[in-house]
Amino acid sequence: MVRFISFIVLFLLCVASSSPTKVVDVETICKKAKNYSFCITLLKSKAGGAGGDLVSLASYTIGVARTDVSKTINLIKTLIAKSGGNPKALSHYKNCLDHFGMDEGALGEIVEAQQLLKKGDYGGVNAHASGILTDVDGCLSGDSPTDPPFHDTSSLPKYAAIVEQVSQIILIITNFLLH
Ligand SMILES: *[C@@H]1O[C@H](CO)[C@@H](O)[C@H](O)[C@H]1NC(C)=O
Repeated sequence: MVRFISFIVLFLLCVASSSPTKVVDVETICKKAKNYSFCITLLKSKAGGAGGDLVSLASYTIGVARTDVSKTINLIKTLIAKSGGNPKALSHYKNCLDHFGMDEGALGEIVEAQQLLKKGDYGGVNAHASGILTDVDGCLSGDSPTDPPFHDTSSLPKYAAIVEQVSQIILIITNFLLH
């Protein structure tokens, strides 16, 4: 009888500790991504394997986004330093720095998303991930709907595309967490 009760207790403990974690395999997540192989490569680069629950995958992916945004900010700063003689380029890159930066830019969104994930506010994380997409678009297409976008021949569009893809993966993971 004592054995039986301890078995029941153990069973209940297992149920209690496992129910909040949601596990979806990486292939299922990446089928929804724009670029399947990019997504698989990213999620499988997670230390300890691609397995694990959605929250740890979200946390990992937000960390990757943070690194990619920081790299992009460094690139933009270099481009600003180089475009002294070109007012159009200068204003384009300064606009991009605002859109990627900490104050109301992509980096700020990511910092918020990291805090909200810890609180379990997946809707908030989702909103900030789409905020990053808006920021990236604001950099690439510029703020004026009438002016044509700056023809950027630097590596910035490539960097921005990576930030975009990583943010879309955050959206996919948080959508699984929400539904
Ligand atoms: C998808 O991502 C891979 C990198 O993982 C890249 O080599 C490939 O060009 C990308 N494909 C498209 C269509 O963007």
